[in-house]
Amino acid sequence: MPAREAPGDSRNGEVLLSLHRVSLAFGHIQALDDVSLEVRRGEIVGLIGPNGSGKTTLLNVVSNLYRPQRGAVYFLGERLDGLAVHEVARRGIGRTFQVARVFGRLTALQNLLVPGYTHGEVAGTAPAQLRARAWELLRFFDLEGVAHVPAGQLSGGQQKLLEFARALMLQPRLLLLDEPFAGVHPLLKERMLQHIAELHAQGLDFVLVSHDLPTMLGVSSRLVVLANGQKIADGDPEAVRQEAAVVEAYLGV
Ligand SMILES: Nc1ncnc2c1ncn2[C@@H]1O[C@H](COP(=O)(O)OP(=O)(O)O)[C@@H](O)[C@H]1O
Ligand SMILES: [Mg+2]
Repeated sequence: MPAREAPGDSRNGEVLLSLHRVSLAFGHIQALDDVSLEVRRGEIVGLIGPNGSGKTTLLNVVSNLYRPQRGAVYFLGERLDGLAVHEVARRGIGRTFQVARVFGRLTALQNLLVPGYTHGEVAGTAPAQLRARAWELLRFFDLEGVAHVPAGQLSGGQQKLLEFARALMLQPRLLLLDEPFAGVHPLLKERMLQHIAELHAQGLDFVLVSHDLPTMLGVSSRLVVLANGQKIADGDPEAVRQEAAVVEAYLGV
């Protein structure tokens, strides 16, 4: 549904996102320390690491909420850092937040229409199409029944689903999900995983941030590990899990 191209597409393997030697410090805290990373079409990259290792900061740099002090970020070969936040979204990068950021007084349906209207006008999408798409997403995420309920009255898990749905309104090529499973009911987590798998099968690629290692081993096609702002491992999930540095930095805590 939100896909722009099917998996198995000849473009699979093409570099979507690329971070080149990115560093960012907050005072004396080096949140990102010379991090390079590539995300290719067809991948689900799992980004793991202990609390405070820089995962959210990395997503914030990609979505241009933070500007790196050194290094560069590219999306489909085009320099991203320095663009406005909405420009990043328009180029095809969607994201969700660790604690879902929904508009509490707006209904679930209205929440989905917000990015559609603000960006859709620019892209020339007619309101009727946006509404149709919003309903399609509400059905996909099984949120139809709460379409007219203010988002602030939804459970934390439902808010996460709603935020996930909202990110899809702009038909991203790449979706960055920050701790999508944290604090959600196990059944909802299973649904979230099914949605990710289904959307991936339709051609959407993901960067998933989580400290839930067993889940990440199951869902990721590649694992990247951060510790103290540095990338300490990057590769096949099972191999990465067994690396001594990962065991020490991540599993040891
Ligand atoms: N806006 C900020 N101001 C100051 N320090 C920050 C800010 N954002 C993150 N940090 C610090 O940067 C480090 C990395 O944080 P974060 O990226 O949130 O880690 P993670 O998501 O892996 O738990 C932490 O030490 C955190 O306290
Ligand atoms: Mg975080």
